[in-house]
Amino acid sequence: MKTIKGIDLSGKRVFIRVDVNVPLDQHQNITDDSRIRSVLATLRYALDHDAKLIVASHLGRPGGKVVPEYSLAPVAKRLGRLLEKKVIMATDCIGPEVKDLISKMKPGDVVLLENLRFHPQEQENDEAFAKELASLCDVYINNAFAVCHRANASVEAIVKHAPLAAAGFLLQREIEYFEKAMDDPMRPLVAIVGGAKVSSKLGAIENMLHNVDKFIIGGALANTFLASGGFDLGKSRLEKDLVETAGAVMKRAIKNKIKFYIPVDAVVARKIDKKASTKVVPIQEVPDDWMALDIGPATSLLYSEALYDAKTIIWNGPMGAFEVDPFSRGTLAMVSTVANSYALTIIGGGDTDVAVQRANETDRISYISTGGGAFLTMLEGKPLVAVAALESASG
Ligand code: 3PG
Repeated sequence: MKTIKGIDLSGKRVFIRVDVNVPLDQHQNITDDSRIRSVLATLRYALDHDAKLIVASHLGRPGGKVVPEYSLAPVAKRLGRLLEKKVIMATDCIGPEVKDLISKMKPGDVVLLENLRFHPQEQENDEAFAKELASLCDVYINNAFAVCHRANASVEAIVKHAPLAAAGFLLQREIEYFEKAMDDPMRPLVAIVGGAKVSSKLGAIENMLHNVDKFIIGGALANTFLASGGFDLGKSRLEKDLVETAGAVMKRAIKNKIKFYIPVDAVVARKIDKKASTKVVPIQEVPDDWMALDIGPATSLLYSEALYDAKTIIWNGPMGAFEVDPFSRGTLAMVSTVANSYALTIIGGGDTDVAVQRANETDRISYISTGGGAFLTMLEGKPLVAVAALESASG
């Protein structure tokens, strides 16, 4: 795949597609700017090489119409502060006004286009829309890893129409780290899989059956695996229709000589509430009207021992309902085990990155992916459509 490094950017209109789909509070304040920070290196590189910088992104899911709450204006402000440069906010991402604005740009100028998803054609991967976006630039750079699993016009169809197309540093790094972990890993390779629903992770777990040495399972999805072993988990969340499949996956793992760890105890409560009374019980003893909401201390210890010799760890999904205080310990203990390990550690998807930030351990993880769905797609062993488009453009 061609990268931005091999391209002459001087004096060129360089269109960089980023994913600054950041969380905002009800007053449109950015509550976490990591996705903006993650693309700065590429933007600075283009500016250092005298590009006229056109930045484009989506924000939220406005459904193909203009929704002021999803304007990228707050991002323009934050980006300006981080780049220490004026960032001009365009009123749209296509159209005569935008063309006029871009025609007046000088090298070193930065324009941020308005939310691409204000047009339904973006998510329809519409050719004419992609062509219009491409007409704004001499060079197109995809640095939007987190949306690369979507066939959207600004990451997929645009590649055919742009005079030159290449990857930015973030996209390149995301793929390199993932390949380092999954294609030629230092072993043992351990996959930690958590989160709420086994249905959304089954594809990833099945794909990793060919590769990992150990699985560590947590979160509500562990309940479905436990149920396949006959455990009665009271009112715990369960995907009944997948119990049999989960059992079959576990058997296949064992047949492939993969160690498959499931919880041995749990933190239980009657409801997910920070004031709920809780207790720790062995997994065989979840009371009838209680729910398992976090892994218990014995499981944390077992998992930390299972990770002791790991050389590569890939982690997706929390160990419990960690956003509610009494059920956060299992996930936070896991963050600390992973941070303290001597392994290459890669985290992505779900809320796992939020847990790492909460534990203040960001700096001690080898790589935190910016992707949720995109990261999961890679775990499932499926190609990212936008990356495939860039690769075919590279020849
Ligand atoms: C994400 O936040 O995972 C990406 O920005 C993609 O957003 P989407 O799920 O709304 O397509």
